[in-house]
Amino acid sequence: MEETSTRAPVAPALHSPTPASRRRAIGRGTFALRGIAVTILWATSVIIGGILPAGELRWIWLVGHLAALVVGLGAAVMIEYAGFLWTIGRGTLHEVCATEERLAPLAWLGFGGMLLTGMFLSPDVSNPLTALKMIVVLAIGLNAVATARLTVVLHGLPDDLPFRRAPWRLRSWSLATGLVSQLAWWSAVLLGTLNTASRGA
Ligand code: HEM
Repeated sequence: MEETSTRAPVAPALHSPTPASRRRAIGRGTFALRGIAVTILWATSVIIGGILPAGELRWIWLVGHLAALVVGLGAAVMIEYAGFLWTIGRGTLHEVCATEERLAPLAWLGFGGMLLTGMFLSPDVSNPLTALKMIVVLAIGLNAVATARLTVVLHGLPDDLPFRRAPWRLRSWSLATGLVSQLAWWSAVLLGTLNTASRGA
């Protein structure tokens, strides 16, 4: 009689030079380019934002800023929640990958919207709170690139691999990107709100 095992197979892709690991090696360059692209877009937003005067339509851009926040942060929370459920054994790796695949475009859309609308809110980068927020915003973008790279690696693993059986490097990477993402998003929200409050608005 055939014996069925409930133990998830060990991730072979992380241990041997398989075609999957070659694909990941090729992917590394692509992700470095994405990191550079994110940095350039971020710098463009901050520099142009520092030059543009605050127009009468500023309130419209602020509404857009908050709408982009809902979309971006909402998607990020859902992705990290799927990851959290996997870490505590209440969700599968397949669900994490499927959620990331569906919601990552929304997270990027929201992040891009924050860069675009923030530019028209005339950020004052000489204000330490604003300067700190901009650094945190860059961290969100670069961490999102790292998360996309992590997802490529996760896709190469068995769908039902429990978190505790994943290689420690991958576990640390998953926990680190999830924590950095949530910490950075919420710090940017807090700093943005403090900035508005300090204006007496
Ligand atoms: C993920 C990225 C970002 C998040 C989470 C974020 C979050 C916020 C929040 C919550 C507010 C407060 C809105 C209110 O209280 O009505 C705000 C305001 C603002 N944000 Fe952002 N923001 C982000 C990116 C940016 C960027 C890239 C820029 C500029 C290039 C920017 C510039 C501003 C400005 C100028 C304000 C108004 C602050 C003031 O009243 O002085 N933000 N942001």
